[in-house]
Amino acid sequence: MKIFIDSADIEEIREANSLGVIDGVTTNPSLVAKTGRPFEQALADICAEVDGPVSAEVLSTEAPAMIEEGRRLAALHDNIVVKIPMISEGLKATRVLSSEGIGVNVTLIFQPAQGLLAAKAGAAYLSPFVGRLDDISEDGMAMVGTLLQILSNYDYDAEVLVASIRNPLHFLEAARMGADVATCPLSVINQLTKHPLTDHGLAKFLADWEKVPK
Ligand code: E4P
Repeated sequence: MKIFIDSADIEEIREANSLGVIDGVTTNPSLVAKTGRPFEQALADICAEVDGPVSAEVLSTEAPAMIEEGRRLAALHDNIVVKIPMISEGLKATRVLSSEGIGVNVTLIFQPAQGLLAAKAGAAYLSPFVGRLDDISEDGMAMVGTLLQILSNYDYDAEVLVASIRNPLHFLEAARMGADVATCPLSVINQLTKHPLTDHGLAKFLADWEKVPK
């Protein structure tokens, strides 16, 4: 499974990338706003740091404007993937942009049929949001499972990119189900590296080493 970092903060992205396990980056307007930096500057820094797909979201909500915005974002760097919201106008824009060879990540997917439509429209990535479904007492990972099962019946190119991951269990379940990508905040990536017995074991090894005659 590929691992993307879900952040627009270049320091967080550098920190995650230094672990050597990061394949790409997803951003969204809220994450960009948190950085307090101009969008295109942030994107340039991210593309210089990570050699992999970097999702950049359009803000327009009508297909013609989404297409224009998408073309402009894609022209910024070869690794930019244009993020398009899963609305009817977004499907139209996805069809046009993908037929021009521009990678599209269809975002804000909350039910499997939306994912199937986005795959049919030519999306390179489908982003089901699991945490936000859990937040309203729906089972986000169950929805991902259904989407993966539906896609396995056919032959679409789209990769399932599990988004809105809030904890290590979301990540593990995504891997168990065979999702193509999981995008995680730095906090979750850090949690994935840890186990108390690892820390305890290391502390013991280091303490015992002190007893070795030097
Ligand atoms: C994914 O592309 C989104 O940026 C992200 O995963 C949303 O996560 P949230 O629901 O925790 O905001």
